[in-house]
Amino acid sequence: MCGIVGYVGSLRADDVVLEGLRRLEYRGYDSAGIAVVTEGTVASAKRAGKLVQLETALSESALPASGTGIGHTRWATHGAPNDRNAHPHLTRAQSIAVVHNGIIENFARLRAELEDADYEFQSETDTEVVAHLLDSVYDPATGLAEAMRVVCRRLDGAFTLVAIHADEPGVVVGARRNSPLVVGRGDNENFLGSDVSAFIGYTRKAIELGQDQVVELRTDSITVTNFDGTPAQITEYEVTWDAEAAEKGGYDYFMLKEIAEQPQAVADTLLGRINDDGLLVLDEMRLSDDDLRSVDKIVLIACGTAYHAGMIAKYAIEHWTRIPCEIELASEFRYRDPILTRDTLVIAISQSGETMDTLMALRHAREQGARVLAVCNVNGSTIPRESDAVVYTHAGPEIAVASTKAFLTQVVAVHLVALYLAQVRGTKWGEEIRHHVEQLAQMPSKIEELLTTMEPVREMAASMADAQTVLFIGRHVGYPVALEGALKVKELAYMHAEGFAAGELKHGPIALLEEGMPVVAIVPSPRGRSILHDKVISNIQEVRARGARMIVIAEEGDTDVEPYADVLIRIPAVPTLMQPILAVVPLQVFACALATAKGFDVDQPRNLAKSVTVE
Ligand code: F6R
Repeated sequence: MCGIVGYVGSLRADDVVLEGLRRLEYRGYDSAGIAVVTEGTVASAKRAGKLVQLETALSESALPASGTGIGHTRWATHGAPNDRNAHPHLTRAQSIAVVHNGIIENFARLRAELEDADYEFQSETDTEVVAHLLDSVYDPATGLAEAMRVVCRRLDGAFTLVAIHADEPGVVVGARRNSPLVVGRGDNENFLGSDVSAFIGYTRKAIELGQDQVVELRTDSITVTNFDGTPAQITEYEVTWDAEAAEKGGYDYFMLKEIAEQPQAVADTLLGRINDDGLLVLDEMRLSDDDLRSVDKIVLIACGTAYHAGMIAKYAIEHWTRIPCEIELASEFRYRDPILTRDTLVIAISQSGETMDTLMALRHAREQGARVLAVCNVNGSTIPRESDAVVYTHAGPEIAVASTKAFLTQVVAVHLVALYLAQVRGTKWGEEIRHHVEQLAQMPSKIEELLTTMEPVREMAASMADAQTVLFIGRHVGYPVALEGALKVKELAYMHAEGFAAGELKHGPIALLEEGMPVVAIVPSPRGRSILHDKVISNIQEVRARGARMIVIAEEGDTDVEPYADVLIRIPAVPTLMQPILAVVPLQVFACALATAKGFDVDQPRNLAKSVTVE
């Protein structure tokens, strides 16, 4: 939520910052702005709307050349998305400019205090208090970094702040608490970004800023301190992907590229997971085998699409380990006083590793003594850093707001976690685990094969642009797939869509059905669990009898479904627990094509942003 960029070096800061904002625009697109230090003042430009509005403004009236600058792309929290509330926020004398991601919870009290001291506010944002507070404490002898430390100690809430001062050309100062900020180390130039994609075109050397730390960037130095001024430890790491991975690569939308990347993403998630002894290997495990053997309950926490991956995890973990497993929305978790002990393993699933609801739930779990394992895509982000163990999904950067490849890799990763637990606790033989891993290893080629058959799905979606509602039904692991299909349609095509457990329809929602209403059914494999298969066929018949148009997703060779399908979408045959890895793909393609047919920007759906860093 909100993208932040900072630059100090010998290039034109406005160009570098603008390029960073282009890469971060997925984090928010309500407004954008840039400020640079020039000849004893700060010059800035900002515009409501997508980045293109700012680009147009800058092409008409360029900012002065400067090697020191900051920028922001906004997802509005406090104050409407207009020019006035756009960041950067400046002091009246234009000596300080600041950009912010997060929410400053005590801003109203601070604002009242500043107004009493005759500071005039230009915006309704919480951020503007920081500009004036910096001004009120700034001492040229100790500089902007010290002013930032003093101010941060007065702030409550979540914030990443980046600031410049007219009297300190060649200096950019950043700070973070609960929101992300990464430093990029260049050659005689340094960068700040909400994530590494902001500067990946310039350097792959990165430093993740820790909690409650301030960084001062100069062209030739990076100084990190804690809010109390003590020096902080920093750990540099090399980003494993390059600028090309953060580009559209010839696709019209990032979402299309990310859907197409799914076979590779899943292959990367599986890569190197089996050691020479045939045992599963996780990325970072700070839990002993004894710890894992003593686990008597697992609680999965996540939001949105990651929550749907968590629902699938429950089926896999309980099936393979027999450990009781709960799944809960991270935003609800800590408010119901959950029962957690040292023997509870909490699994936090998050693509970004920054989702505030999940982070707060994780912290609550740890405070209660539970151990936390993160399933995460972004290396070194806050959620894995604060967990006891991590399984990275290695999906590469996911830039489209709607999650696709992250979901598939999360499902694969939670299967690995389930198998790892089964291995450590001895609930499955080594041979059985190897067998399941081998089946997972076949997924990339099956997804590849499936992706070549999606043209009819796109055509069907294009013909449905006028539909008012789409319903999705499924049972067992098909139920979370139904929820995920509906979420994709809602967020991309702005249409009413709902997912239901197929058996639940007759308890109320069936009243929604009207003649011709599209209903998508995810049909389990007819092999093995045939009762489940037969029950879904019965549910399809109930729906069809009420005039709905049945779109059926079924395994190749499942002839039982043929009489009941108005449209039949085939997926390769795989074990039931792994079916979501394939069944969700046509639903992603469907939602994307539906939104495109309606003329919507699938990468930047309205009102949304990628990393949700507020609660
Ligand atoms: C939907 C989507 C969101 C995220 C959710 C959690 O397509 O992307 O529902 O899944 O905001 O985000 P992460 O996984 O970053 O914690």
